[in-house]
Amino acid sequence: MLKELVIASHNQGKITEFKALLAPLGVKVYAATELNLPDVEETGTTFAENAALKAETLAKISGKPCLADDSGLCVDALNGRPGVYSARYAPNRDFNKAMSLLISELQASGKTDWSAHFSCVLAITEPGQKTRFYEGRVNGQITADRRGSEGFGFDPVFIPDGFKRTFAEMNHAEKAKISHRGKAVAAFLKKEFNV
Ligand code: IMP
Repeated sequence: MLKELVIASHNQGKITEFKALLAPLGVKVYAATELNLPDVEETGTTFAENAALKAETLAKISGKPCLADDSGLCVDALNGRPGVYSARYAPNRDFNKAMSLLISELQASGKTDWSAHFSCVLAITEPGQKTRFYEGRVNGQITADRRGSEGFGFDPVFIPDGFKRTFAEMNHAEKAKISHRGKAVAAFLKKEFNV
């Protein structure tokens, strides 16, 4: 069982979440920043490639097990875009602008089916071992009618299948039960820690 883990991210929100999840399991969790590890550029073309790139690079440098994730929104009518480029789709990380851009692209496509999914891939690399992957996905629809103030990113325009509310109208616990990230983390915890 893993005794220590480096979170291969410079995103404080992700680091705090992983620390909260893993500390009760007796894992010593380090943020990449605490060990002066670099922010690895996401040059891959798939979520798995980017997550592996981050986990493998930092495992090599630090000599410790590393966990990385990559996620994004894939819209069918836009041939899967923004996908791995979701974070960069927002000009200056302005998600109001990103949502406007997404809706105008969908309107311009002339397509009426606005099906989409969020994907998340976690990669864990222990030095000298093959990287292990855990995935989660949630299907839904994009709506032009932005609703809710919870969450982040594209949450106000994403309605998960089986619901009438957007992700931004759900609290953290409710979203985590059905979300791509929640599912990937659940699979990771089950396999690596038997919980
Ligand atoms: P990452 O930090 O490289 O994984 O970037 C993820 C990007 O995908 C974010 O900046 C958002 O654009 C989008 N994204 C991923 N997960 C979510 C989510 O749960 N809600 C809304 N947007 C998300």
